[in-house]
Amino acid sequence: MEQQAAKKRILSGIQPTGTFTLGNYIGAVRNWSRMQDEYECLYMVANLHALTVRQDPAALRRQTRESAALLLACGIDPAKSIVFIQSQVPAHCELSWVLSCCTQFGELSRMTQFKDKSAKHPENINAGLFTYPCLMAADILVYNADLVPVGADQNQHLELARNVAQRFNNNYSPTFTLPEGYNPKTGARVRSLQEPAKKMSKSDTNANAYILLTDDADTVLRKLKRAVTDSEGAVRAAEDKPGVTNLMGIYSALTGKGLSAIEAEFAGQGYGVFKEAVAGAVIDALRPIQAEYARVLADKEYLDQVLAAGAAAAGRIAGRTLAKVYRKVGMLQ
Ligand code: TRP
Repeated sequence: MEQQAAKKRILSGIQPTGTFTLGNYIGAVRNWSRMQDEYECLYMVANLHALTVRQDPAALRRQTRESAALLLACGIDPAKSIVFIQSQVPAHCELSWVLSCCTQFGELSRMTQFKDKSAKHPENINAGLFTYPCLMAADILVYNADLVPVGADQNQHLELARNVAQRFNNNYSPTFTLPEGYNPKTGARVRSLQEPAKKMSKSDTNANAYILLTDDADTVLRKLKRAVTDSEGAVRAAEDKPGVTNLMGIYSALTGKGLSAIEAEFAGQGYGVFKEAVAGAVIDALRPIQAEYARVLADKEYLDQVLAAGAAAAGRIAGRTLAKVYRKVGMLQ
């Protein structure tokens, strides 16, 4: 128990807007599962965040369960980590309100994701889209997380969380841990298979741009065969060969082979052979995940019980922070 207290705490979240991609796995979730022994980990399905974009209620409900099942299938062990659904811990929303009163309009206006998303959905620039970073700050600060593994696209939100935490601590008294970003050593950012300048994203309109963790072997092979490369025909990592470099990154992440070993392995061979090898590595990696995913999803009782226990454990920590915050800001006890 004493050793537990010495462990640093990690929190991260993923939105349940569709099945995870290979990019989510290599860049995030696989690393989350590797951190479980060294850190005290909380992993949540950020279903409240998903509401900033119009969702079909039945689909959102289903995808929330599926996302939780996928986390477990990717190796997150509920015996080691707290796995939960964001909306099942009400303290996130409660703290979010207090934090939104410590956040400036100007700060939120500078968030590039807000600007991008409001340009993309001009018909639905809702207040939640604007205050999204306050909810994300609450997600992190309510647990006093030390480390937050996030992709580069979330760095600005994390920075805002730090600023708001610091402001609260200064205005009242030391309350929140200032969270740090955490970028694991392994796990290159996986890029789109069609436009390697962009990251692989499940919200891409072109389904050939991403591989889903639930894609079957034929689909994986087909998508990889269609992946954009270049006309040189040599398996070599270089800045002006983003497509091939991306495939090499995927192959490297899944086989543990270094880039120069991969270059040597495919020297004198065309992209066809290489792409088949990458597909083989992906299919091998996905096989056990898909088997476990099917097993977890079929066992409704097990999943419900894991999520109920996760929400209870998270709720105990979050409730303590919220009570302290409410007291400090002058809410009646
Ligand atoms: N905003 C994150 C994303 O879209 C998901 C998220 C919500 C999150 N709350 C979080 C990530 C807290 C880290 C910590 O990817």
